[in-house]
Amino acid sequence: MILVLMGPPGAGKGTQAARLAADMSIPQVSTGDLLREARRDGSDIGKRAAGYMDAGTLVPDDLVIALIERRLEQGDCKPGAILDGFPRTVAQAIQLDDMLERGQRQVGAVVSIMVNEDEIVERILGRLTCGQCGAVFHRLIKPPAVAGQCDVCEGGVSSRSDDNEDAIRTRLQTYTNQTAPVLDYYAGAGRLEKVDGTGGMDDVFERIQDALSVA
Ligand code: AP5
Repeated sequence: MILVLMGPPGAGKGTQAARLAADMSIPQVSTGDLLREARRDGSDIGKRAAGYMDAGTLVPDDLVIALIERRLEQGDCKPGAILDGFPRTVAQAIQLDDMLERGQRQVGAVVSIMVNEDEIVERILGRLTCGQCGAVFHRLIKPPAVAGQCDVCEGGVSSRSDDNEDAIRTRLQTYTNQTAPVLDYYAGAGRLEKVDGTGGMDDVFERIQDALSVA
């Protein structure tokens, strides 16, 4: 099963992808996490991606496609994967279909998590992310058990460099201009399920499971 999780920044893609991955025993593949890892490693892709990420604009398609193709070829992705934050342009969606077709696979379902803009800003400004393993927390709604320390790996948690008001505004605009058309691409192919992303994390998870059971 290749499942695509879509939604604006802060909609809860990473939160729900991690839960689905545990539930379905397939890996969560987040292009945001892969890019942040590339930056931490100081790789060429990481260096080229940094400016785009901090500004809240999209990293060029060729860099992201190279990363995802390499990741999906790894053994743990053979049974499937939860794609979180990819594809984000129609060109990426077309390339993903081509890439999967070459391996005789296809996108099984696309779930779009919908949340309004005010809630998105509140969620992102409250977010804390582990700099070591990428686990996600929220200052008020889901604080780490020990302040400043990741529950999973004991690494340090802090705000992401792109979680500031200017970058959030740019990311929302980028989503509207470049990523929303991907929803039309999948809706046209009858593959899109829309899910209300407001309310508690457990409620959203249940709605996604319901959507997947009819997809
Ligand atoms: P990426 O890391 O993908 O960021 P994003 O899409 O902006 O999404 P976020 O990670 O901000 O949010 P999310 O939906 O995962 O929400 P989360 O679960 O964390 O991308 C970063 C950058 O990398 C991009 O701007 C771009 O530059 C580049 N990039 C990545 N992919 C790319 C691609 N394919 N092409 C080109 N460039 C790419 O939740 C947010 C907060 O809300 C958390 O604190 C969480 O605890 C809380 N929360 C979650 N659910 C709930 C709930 N139900 N109620 C209350 N709080 C909640």
